[in-house]
Amino acid sequence: MSERARPALVPAVLALPVLAAGLAWPLDPGGARQAAPCPFDPDPTARAAADPDLYCMALLPTPRLLDARGMAELRRPPGPFSLDLTPDGRVRYRVVLTTQYLPDPGELGDYTTYVAWAASPVLTPVERLGIVPPSGTRALGEVAMNRFLLLVSAEPDADGTEPSGPFVLRAQSPASRMQPADFLEFVLGASRVSGAADSGAAAAHGGHGADDGWGTIPMPAGITMLPAMMDLRPRATPWLPEARGQIADARPRELVRLADGDSLDLAAGVVRRRIGDRTLLGYGFNGQIPGPLLWVGEDATVTVRFTNGIEWPTAIHWHGIRLDNRFDGVPGVTQDPVLPGESFTYRIRFPDPGIYWYHPHHREDVQQDLGLAGNLVVESPDPGYYGPAHREEILMLDDLLLGEHGLVPYGLERATHALMGRFGNTMLVNGEPGYALDVRPGEVVRFFFTNVSNTRTFNLSFPGARMKVVGTDVGNFEREAWIESLLIAPAERYVAHVRFAEPGSVPLLNRVQAIDHVAGHFLSEVDTLGVVRVDGEPVAGQAGEAFATLRAHEAARREIERVRARAPDPVARELELDMETRDLPLVVERLMQVDSAYFHPLEATGTMPMMNLMSTSEEVRWILRDPATGAENDDIEWRFRVGDVVRLRLRNVRRTLHQMQHPIHIHGQRFLVLAVGGVPNDNLAWKDTVLVPVGSTVDLLLELSNPGRWMLHCHIAEHLEVGMKMVFTVEE
Ligand code: C2O
Ligand code: CU
Repeated sequence: MSERARPALVPAVLALPVLAAGLAWPLDPGGARQAAPCPFDPDPTARAAADPDLYCMALLPTPRLLDARGMAELRRPPGPFSLDLTPDGRVRYRVVLTTQYLPDPGELGDYTTYVAWAASPVLTPVERLGIVPPSGTRALGEVAMNRFLLLVSAEPDADGTEPSGPFVLRAQSPASRMQPADFLEFVLGASRVSGAADSGAAAAHGGHGADDGWGTIPMPAGITMLPAMMDLRPRATPWLPEARGQIADARPRELVRLADGDSLDLAAGVVRRRIGDRTLLGYGFNGQIPGPLLWVGEDATVTVRFTNGIEWPTAIHWHGIRLDNRFDGVPGVTQDPVLPGESFTYRIRFPDPGIYWYHPHHREDVQQDLGLAGNLVVESPDPGYYGPAHREEILMLDDLLLGEHGLVPYGLERATHALMGRFGNTMLVNGEPGYALDVRPGEVVRFFFTNVSNTRTFNLSFPGARMKVVGTDVGNFEREAWIESLLIAPAERYVAHVRFAEPGSVPLLNRVQAIDHVAGHFLSEVDTLGVVRVDGEPVAGQAGEAFATLRAHEAARREIERVRARAPDPVARELELDMETRDLPLVVERLMQVDSAYFHPLEATGTMPMMNLMSTSEEVRWILRDPATGAENDDIEWRFRVGDVVRLRLRNVRRTLHQMQHPIHIHGQRFLVLAVGGVPNDNLAWKDTVLVPVGSTVDLLLELSNPGRWMLHCHIAEHLEVGMKMVFTVEE
């Protein structure tokens, strides 16, 4: 599970003879890539689709073969998600290896073949990746290890399952650069006083321990923490909702079916909620957490009269709906905020079947986290839209950050947790821990998943039950696909069919790899979100048989083809995802510098709770930058026309002080994810939110179908709060 750091074998730059001709890249017929992703001699000004520092490995020769060299690309396998993870959360890569100047293996002794292997840093286990030519490029097998070695050996025969001959090339994976914090860091971090004295933030809010209003934050199990970190406090006043008068208990959500022309009253207000044996104050819509489950027909128009019964200004955003711009619910862009006690009436038409949600668009880090989020199902008139299932379950995934005394406070003046977003430590399904479902053997359940957490990306699995993905944000995939786990970032939705074949009990798990940034290693984390009990008489019917085959969605494919046919070739717009910091406490700055030697594609859980808590807009700014003009965030001015179809490239910049993945959401329109890290997708679906892995690009085809002024932003609530947003205009 945890691996010890080892000294790096591979220097950052290889001093080897320069290859005259550029490498042809025969494995990329799609032409989505501008250049070979892992050239031997990278042009420092070239901008690869996946940053070579994280997705390329230079192989060094062993001493007897000084001229030979190799370069491995860690390529993303195409699939329905931006990252391909194993059920326990390790990133899967396809290794594409280019070798040069290896002699004929016979010259080294009694050998006929070169074979590539992947091995853990301690050399067991070793996995065979495939045969390698002395010179040339080969697509090899997959690797899914947190840290690994790539080795090429000369072998007496072509199909050995373990290396027996001499190694000729070797490399360490980029994650091997993760190091335990260095000596200076530990000296700085060892003394509680030095951290506070060096830290403007800690000094600004002085207090230590539990009586300064922030309380103590529980440390995740098994994670190393420097004592000085524990003294860090944000430059903000701790805030929690207060009970004024009688407060009712939150009720479970109710189903509200709305026909065309119907209207609904929706009020936000304070509720009491029970999480395990604790009682907390939260916010609910109509007294419910999650908010009422709205069920409407495709193309219906409904009216929602909203009243603000909380103490913050707010509004309701209808996430993913291509609605009339003035009802999009973004204070300062499409409407004035709805002040406490005031009302606003929304008229919403639902043009696309699927699973959506609604939430406030003002201090989401507080309001949404406290419970203001509800789901919305838009039903297609076609009863076979998703294919057969025995039942439907609508699951809203969330997490809550609980300390010793209940909820960890929020920042009153500004959001806390600006670095990584507020990771919770208590997992919730539909507002509560311990989700439970009873089904009969053989049942196929259609799950609609929505991630409403501030920052957590879930990697969901039902061990022992088969699962296939059917649809996502704004429609179905062109065809169903088997999945071992389902990766869902904040604000994304997925529709998946799961068959519970055998009697017994099947947990719903979130399994990820946590990163201990101080000790410099990975740890497996398993959260049990709930349990499905499979019991009773087996079910009959054809849903079970239909489940066994992967359906094609002809209607989705035709609709996607229709828009794709209008797609221009070149990328028209690009956005870089970046960040900058100032006035960070020295202990934090030092740790971030050590840490930036390697960034994992996905920061799946919160392992730096204090340094994360203390960061606000005073120290951290997350950035969307248009490289064509240099404009950032609100200064970007993009104009389109209704009917435009535009290629948009999102580039998650590797060279920042602390990078992480960003779920980027575009309001009022829909898009296709054409490629991730330069690897084209061959099974598309309409989406409104896409996860951009660290150091990677994501190429979108954005269809501009809906006029107005719309937002594009990161859906990590705290990143949005510290600036990671822009507005674009679509003209009639
Ligand atoms: Cu779900 Cu701009 O938001
Ligand atoms: Cu972000």
